[in-house]
Amino acid sequence: MAPFIGSREHKELLCKFFVETHDPYKPAELAWPKLDEDARKRLASLPIWEEAVRTEADTALAVITMGQAEKDPMLSEAISLQGYEEQRHAEILKLLTQKYGIPVPEFTAHRPPDPDWAFMRIGYGECFDSFFAFGLFALARDSGFFPPELVTMFEPVMAEEGRHIIFHVNWVAYNQAQLPYATKPAYVFRRGLAMWLQMVSRFKTALRVKGKNDRAQDNFTMSAHKSFGDISPREFVELCLAENAKRLKPYDKRLLRPEFVPAVAKAVLKTLPKKPVAEAVAA
Ligand SMILES: [Fe+2]
Ligand SMILES: [Fe+2]
Repeated sequence: MAPFIGSREHKELLCKFFVETHDPYKPAELAWPKLDEDARKRLASLPIWEEAVRTEADTALAVITMGQAEKDPMLSEAISLQGYEEQRHAEILKLLTQKYGIPVPEFTAHRPPDPDWAFMRIGYGECFDSFFAFGLFALARDSGFFPPELVTMFEPVMAEEGRHIIFHVNWVAYNQAQLPYATKPAYVFRRGLAMWLQMVSRFKTALRVKGKNDRAQDNFTMSAHKSFGDISPREFVELCLAENAKRLKPYDKRLLRPEFVPAVAKAVLKTLPKKPVAEAVAA
């Protein structure tokens, strides 16, 4: 029997899953909760807004460009819909910063010269970011850091990022399987390079901030859990793994799930102390 991954059925299932699970909400219709001054200040103090607004705007334009460049009509429709969802994330963030008086400098997104390469890099970046974002979101929800109405409003954004990373790993696997044998190694290299560059960029920002704490914003993915209460690195990684599994579970079992970041996280978990260091020493 021919393998499912890379088949026409695989592509059809991937596009069908993506289009059918799209949530047609409109950012302008969202009911923004009224925040008291303390809650507003807590929200505004998170060092993420400038980076988040920029990332979503750049991502939206890159994914829309890829949707236009894709020759396969079915894939083009799904990728364009993903571009629309990213555009919506950018719009929601803009509305949020306006609504709650969070100053963010004006930013113009840039169209990528090579949409396929940009889309591949974005996908790997999202696999990394979403893994931590799912854990952070659960922390924010359960710690009461944000009012529950605001958390509920962002639930669809989290669900969308889960669908995006499933789309990404399947899109890469489908394209790779489609290639003639001779060109496969080049694609595997391109894919590995995209993944590597995204990882390097995440670690670079983390190290830069560790050395010089003047761009706290860049370090959000790595250290934001501390903003939401007292949680050990081990508990945080465990939470990210559990949230990641929960978010990616509801979709068709035949579709691939991102495996690399959870596997690295599981390996890291083995090196982390079971109890916070201070407690372990006192015991
Ligand atoms: Fe997004
Ligand atoms: Fe996304």
